[in-house]
Amino acid sequence: MSRMPYQLPFPQGVANEIVVDAVVPEDERVWVPQMENVWFRPLCLNTVQGYWVNLLRVRKSGVLSRHRHPAPVHGVVLRGAWHYLEHDWKAKEGSYVFEPPGETHTLVVPENVPEMITLFHITGAMIYVDPFGHQTGYEDVFTKIDMCRAHYTASGLGAEYVDQFIR
Ligand SMILES: [Fe+2]
Repeated sequence: MSRMPYQLPFPQGVANEIVVDAVVPEDERVWVPQMENVWFRPLCLNTVQGYWVNLLRVRKSGVLSRHRHPAPVHGVVLRGAWHYLEHDWKAKEGSYVFEPPGETHTLVVPENVPEMITLFHITGAMIYVDPFGHQTGYEDVFTKIDMCRAHYTASGLGAEYVDQFIR
């Protein structure tokens, strides 16, 4: 009995699981360009709860973005390192970071880091702001999906490539 799979049907309407074999993909086209030398790689794009899980890859140093979070963010650093101008701590390879709602911070990748890759679980939105809090842009799960569709169309993977990550 202990090795027997669960014998009953799953509840009606249960979503399909997502399994990604290589979170850092071998196919470069999977990376969606965000700005020069910055890409993201979708893993889970949840349109019902309004969150997304992705890898952020940065191959440049300096200030990346200043943004406010209205909802929680979880991050795990897979490669490289980064920090926020507003805090003393450093996120290093292997670090886990919880960013509470209400944080506004400025992401910096130091000079000696040729590449950083961080897995972020972001709920709600990234609200981009200037140093005084005036909004300069925003992202949510829907803008991420739009960017994926546009890039996967242009790169030849096809717009529907993103569908496997959407729930
Ligand atoms: Fe953040």
